[in-house]
Amino acid sequence: MTTAAEFVGVTQRFGDFTAVDGIDLAIPTGQLTTLLGPSGCGKTTSLRMLAGYTQPTSGRIMIAGTDATRTPPERRGLGMVFQSYALFPHMSVAENVGYGLKLRKVPGAERTRRVAEALDLVGLGHLAASRPKKLSGGQQQRVALARAIAIRPTLLLLDEPLSNLDARLRVQMRAEIRRIQAETGLTVVLVTHDQDEALEMSDRMVLMREGRIMQEGAPTEVFTAPANRFVAEFLGYENFLTLPDGALATIRPEHLAIDRSGAATSAGLTLDGTVVDVAYRGVDRLVTVDTVDAQGTAVRLMADVRDEAVPARAGDRVSVSAAASRLIRLAA
Ligand SMILES: Nc1ncnc2c1ncn2[C@@H]1O[C@H](COP(=O)(O)OP(=O)(O)O)[C@@H](O)[C@H]1O
Ligand SMILES: [Mg+2]
Repeated sequence: MTTAAEFVGVTQRFGDFTAVDGIDLAIPTGQLTTLLGPSGCGKTTSLRMLAGYTQPTSGRIMIAGTDATRTPPERRGLGMVFQSYALFPHMSVAENVGYGLKLRKVPGAERTRRVAEALDLVGLGHLAASRPKKLSGGQQQRVALARAIAIRPTLLLLDEPLSNLDARLRVQMRAEIRRIQAETGLTVVLVTHDQDEALEMSDRMVLMREGRIMQEGAPTEVFTAPANRFVAEFLGYENFLTLPDGALATIRPEHLAIDRSGAATSAGLTLDGTVVDVAYRGVDRLVTVDTVDAQGTAVRLMADVRDEAVPARAGDRVSVSAAASRLIRLAA
């Protein structure tokens, strides 16, 4: 695995405020890496330093193995797409896509070929002569993508590119960006605050909080073994409790079993509790149980019950259990 770009001890301060706090991160070549985290955690600032629009306060940005910390943006060979994709309204779709090539003085015939190629890649060849304002939001976003891809960037940087699209289109575009990435073999860095987007799209995801990296890895690695409570909560885990040995653990609702009889299952965790709510959701029922963990702390657990034969009504006394292998231990 080669590295397309790297953050080496990178810090960005704005006055007294530290937006990015000493991050070390390698971006693997030919993969899609996601920077994920809540608003304000430093994702855009990191991307802007990678692009060269801002200089780190300290640390280095490496691109293709050389120190690019002081290299101006136009000499980094990057394509960028932002949330607001800012197409030129007075130019046709093809002219928009060819803009970066013209700036780079790519000759006419070559330019025409690469514009056509980029438009085909995003499925908009038939709209080459249209004006951007005649296009839907999703189509405009594809034009912005084609414009970034046409210059054959060494790195494609995407900052929340889907957040202005409606929910259905957003989900379609996730697959579309994956396909384009796979077909071109481009190295992509995508910024998003949407965990589903990151899980679905990434080869690697990097979870950030307050300017620091909390965890990085393949989506399955991070999702099945969140390192700490922040990561677990961000990825949608809701059940947290303390185990008899004092460790903090989380467990997925679909891995909790509800039993009316109170019979303990095989080795693992079993707690007695009271059902406080049952939400019917068609394919399953989400059963909320109030119980007390090994520390004597009141905890509320949610079990995703798919077996229709399991009775559960508010007020029922039940036991909640999980196999030992389903308990995910967390660093606090
Ligand atoms: N130019 C700036 N001057 C002062 N503070 C900034 C500047 N740019 C970003 N910040 C602050 O740095 C933090 C991280 O911002 P940003 O990287 O945009 O977060 P994200 O993209 O993860 O939402 C935020 O608190 C933001 O207000
Ligand atoms: Mg941002």
